[in-house]
Amino acid sequence: MSLWRPAVVFLSLVVALVGEGKSEEGLVTRIAFGSCSNQSAPQPIWDAILDFDPQVFIWLGDNIYGDIRRPFRLFGKERTIGPWKNVPRFVPSSQQEMENRYRLAKSNPGYSRLRENTKVIGTWDDHDFGLNDAGKEFSRKVANQQLMLDFLDEPIDSPRRKQEGVYMSYTFGPFGRQVKVILLDTRYHRDPLSSDGSMLGAAQWAWLEKEMKGPATEITIIGSSIQVLSNLSAVTSPLFSSESWGRFPTERERLFMLIRKSKRNGVLFISGDVHFGEISRYDCGIGYPLYDITSSGLTQAVEKAIPWPLHFAVRFLAWFTPNTMRAMSHGCRYRSCTYSQPNFGAIQIHWNENPVKLGIEVRDINGHSAATVNVSLSDLSMRSAAPEDTAHLEGYHRHCSLEVTLPWIIRYRLAILVFSALIVCSIVLLTLAGLAISLCLRCTRKNKLE
Ligand SMILES: *[C@@H]1O[C@H](CO)[C@@H](O)[C@H](O)[C@H]1NC(C)=O
Ligand SMILES: *[C@@H]1O[C@H](CO)[C@@H](O)[C@H](O)[C@H]1NC(C)=O
Ligand SMILES: *[C@@H]1O[C@H](CO)[C@@H](O)[C@H](O)[C@H]1NC(C)=O
Repeated sequence: MSLWRPAVVFLSLVVALVGEGKSEEGLVTRIAFGSCSNQSAPQPIWDAILDFDPQVFIWLGDNIYGDIRRPFRLFGKERTIGPWKNVPRFVPSSQQEMENRYRLAKSNPGYSRLRENTKVIGTWDDHDFGLNDAGKEFSRKVANQQLMLDFLDEPIDSPRRKQEGVYMSYTFGPFGRQVKVILLDTRYHRDPLSSDGSMLGAAQWAWLEKEMKGPATEITIIGSSIQVLSNLSAVTSPLFSSESWGRFPTERERLFMLIRKSKRNGVLFISGDVHFGEISRYDCGIGYPLYDITSSGLTQAVEKAIPWPLHFAVRFLAWFTPNTMRAMSHGCRYRSCTYSQPNFGAIQIHWNENPVKLGIEVRDINGHSAATVNVSLSDLSMRSAAPEDTAHLEGYHRHCSLEVTLPWIIRYRLAILVFSALIVCSIVLLTLAGLAISLCLRCTRKNKLE
């Protein structure tokens, strides 16, 4: 026994005491993230993000809208929808135009202020990759990767500029209180949408395996531009479909298997893309609950795109659309537990609580919470129960049953509602038209008789 041991104890006490203060270099207690930001639109949300004062801000894609969107046109010279459409709705813009748009985004006053004190990192999604819903076939990806990395101030000699794709990992914080952030590239190597092919490509998979099997960290946040847990397409088809890991079931299973095999605790996902915010939870993937916190968008949100009298309809439809993964709680603003106004994601880590607590939120433009869950870090750890034990569960289990296993009358109820409404409207219109015609006929007959 020497003086050595008390000295260590004393030092760790000091470290614990200054815990959440700035003096402990690099400790991360607040992480913000967001996606879908229109560089040409006002971006008042930065004020709320600045108020949250995150140490790290993560871009999850559509960091700019780089492509050109043509208006919906059923008729005329440039028809963008319908079976007779003759031009694509989205086209890539020139490299010069991409640069201009990035410059505009970067010079936004709110974002510029954030960059002064906050570590900003990120990945991309389709519109900053260069084209709506694009994947590995998109040839402009090589040039656009450099523009995206310029936007993030990636050093000229960074290996990230030489690899194929923008995936990257970061570790923050002192030993014992570390947060690892793994950012995936779900675009550069992605096979066509309905192929059930690859999402990440071989090189990125090999890299991800190495990252996951590397040194343990208390928390590991995996950033994916598209949703990992929720499979919206399964319940909105045939009306519309969206991109998600769910559309690539084999790759999704591989991702869960990798987390399981890596025995990493404290893994959670963050995502963007869908133009609304929600928190999803899946209990049957890896042996402990997986969360996917979706924040979308910083400017581009569903309710921004429609007049306010219809906002109620959006909320009703969000509530009516079945889901099996969404984390419902009294902390949600609306009954659907989705939030379709501009929003950002906020994760708070309470390192000094025992066990460590995570406060997870989707926040609105005023910084108020619109959806929230509180998670104990100790709940995000491998238990003895293997996930195989839950796989054979009979019947429906929330946070476990996949959307595709819902009875069809529930799974397709949104489509059934919309089509029924259309049929009823058509019948009413036809009846009214019939009445009008018979009235007219009667009038003209009467006139003739007179
Ligand atoms: C971005 O905002 C501008 C200005 O409000 C608007 O004209 C443009 O259509 C928006 N772009 C997208 C992709 O919504
Ligand atoms: C997600 O939904 C799509 C479309 O219905 C389906 O093809 C796919 O298998 C689903 N994925 C999962 C993981 O359930
Ligand atoms: C989460 O915790 C915070 C305080 O730590 C509390 O105010 C909030 O109500 C909790 N939310 C939920 C949904 O439990």
